[in-house]
Amino acid sequence: MCGIVGFVGREEAAPILLDGLARLEYRGYDSAGIAVYSPEDGLRVEKAKGRLQVLFDKIHGGADVKGHLGLGHTRWATHGEPSDVNAHPQLSESGRFAVIHNGIIENYVEIKEFLQEHGVTFVSETDTEVVAHLLDYYYKDDMMDAVVKVLHRINGAYAFGIVCADCPDRLIAARKDSPLIIGYGDGFNFLASDVTAVIKYTREVSYLDDGDIAVLTADSVEIYDSLLQRVEKAHHQVDWEVSAAEKGGYEHFMAKEIMEQPEAFRKTISPRIQDGNVVLDDLKIDRAALEAMDKIYIIACGSSYHVGVVAKYTLEKMLRKPVEVALASEFRYCDPIVSNQTLCIVISQSGETIDTLAAMREAKRLGARLLSIVNVVGSTIARESDDVLYTWAGPEIAVATTKAYSTQLAVIYLIALYFAKQLNTISMEEYDAIVAELQVLPDKMQQVLEQKENIQYYASRYFNHESIFFIGRNIDYAVGMEGSLKLKEISYIHSEAYAAGELKHGTISLIEPGALVVALAGHAALFEKLMSNVVEVKSRGADVLGVTVASLGKAMEKTVDAAVMVPDTLPMLLPSLEVLPMQLFAYYIALMRGCDIDKPRNLAKSVTVE
Ligand code: G6P
Repeated sequence: MCGIVGFVGREEAAPILLDGLARLEYRGYDSAGIAVYSPEDGLRVEKAKGRLQVLFDKIHGGADVKGHLGLGHTRWATHGEPSDVNAHPQLSESGRFAVIHNGIIENYVEIKEFLQEHGVTFVSETDTEVVAHLLDYYYKDDMMDAVVKVLHRINGAYAFGIVCADCPDRLIAARKDSPLIIGYGDGFNFLASDVTAVIKYTREVSYLDDGDIAVLTADSVEIYDSLLQRVEKAHHQVDWEVSAAEKGGYEHFMAKEIMEQPEAFRKTISPRIQDGNVVLDDLKIDRAALEAMDKIYIIACGSSYHVGVVAKYTLEKMLRKPVEVALASEFRYCDPIVSNQTLCIVISQSGETIDTLAAMREAKRLGARLLSIVNVVGSTIARESDDVLYTWAGPEIAVATTKAYSTQLAVIYLIALYFAKQLNTISMEEYDAIVAELQVLPDKMQQVLEQKENIQYYASRYFNHESIFFIGRNIDYAVGMEGSLKLKEISYIHSEAYAAGELKHGTISLIEPGALVVALAGHAALFEKLMSNVVEVKSRGADVLGVTVASLGKAMEKTVDAAVMVPDTLPMLLPSLEVLPMQLFAYYIALMRGCDIDKPRNLAKSVTVE
């Protein structure tokens, strides 16, 4: 939530800040603002409600705002509606301090009352404004001292960028529970929520830890820990291509990312399959620990949770160990049964989702070993895990995930194979067959994507529906959950995914003539059963769009109104093919409904508030 960027150097800051914000806009997009210092104008703040483009136009791409140091922010509102005044940066009453913030100050009401008693007038409804005024309150000619006092006074989560007009050569960055990176350049430095904001200018970054405070000038970066001891951070080279975070001729990032999936899947599995064997060198967990493992707990949110649902079916079948999958936001409050023999698999594209982070910390506290599947290198979830397996999806910009989902599935398959072999729960024949199929899966994914015109046609038939149901059994059901989420996220059509057999226990009452049911029936062993459910909804007037494998296509076509066929594959790997028409279907429906596909209303990609 909220993207923050800060620049200090010798070039004009405003265009660079706007460029950085454009790359962070997926984190929040209800308003944006910048603060830039120049000796002539002092600390100048420009803000605008709406997309970044509104601010961009207002200040002519930054040309109107002079100065070589500044802060930028793109907001996902928590405290106070989206408006010019609630947008960041927030200024202190004296105008001396400007603050940008990602996170929530939990005790802001108490601090606000305290400051009001001291005569401070508030102009916004934000929690962040208290920080700006509190800096003024504590400031006695020493910016750092004021920052430290403020950080001691506030509770909650934050990534801050702070500038003080009295010290116009420096920015201060501070972090607790919200991501913040430093980007190092020659004669300039950056602070930012994530690396996408800086990779056009530098690939050398470091990651701040909780409690860290950084002081950035054009030529230096000093970092202090929570005890104000100087600390040296490891510098990392980011290997993401700048072009990977650009649309490259596509109308939307989502379309581009959908089409990138075969390649992203290949990149994720190829280095980890050697001579027909799954090699997970990054994993420290050994056979003895796997044998002793009492259960696997999977923790995630959103689409990553849906990968977890697929993983439950896959891992239980292959490992014969109990697997529980929990929504991260529920995990901490369900008194989870976790021991020091529990393996907790944490799935997160961003590696920063606060619910997931909080849940995994709780699992760790209860003794679990943490294995995370993460896309963003160096993210907090990755750093706090015992083992990390990265998905090599590259930057994912569209809020609705596609290629991260697919690469997370790829890692689940690798884990299933690797663990099954260690545990001796798979025959060599089966192992070899799955490994071989895994390697041809990207080509089969490509074949599905080539049917996009076909799916676009179905979308044109159904885009006016106001309610769409997804049904399936076993992993087909898990894919239906993702299909339903994709659709509702970007097209705003009400949608539900149901285990097909459960429909008759209530939800079938909603089926009436004209209702659309998407029936996923790729799992050959469950095909007949699923088709009985299709007949049930058809006899109540529903239109049915079926999804199955080529070899069952003819059988399905007899019953459904329209069918999409994916190439035959092993049942375990089906989700990787079946999800693609679901993503395309959602995309084209949203397109036909004129929705803002990459930035759906009320959502943000990286959810760093609970
Ligand atoms: C947000 C995104 C989803 C994502 C979820 C979990 O809601 O819009 O696409 O699945 O967060 O994010 P994570 O980064 O932890 O996978």
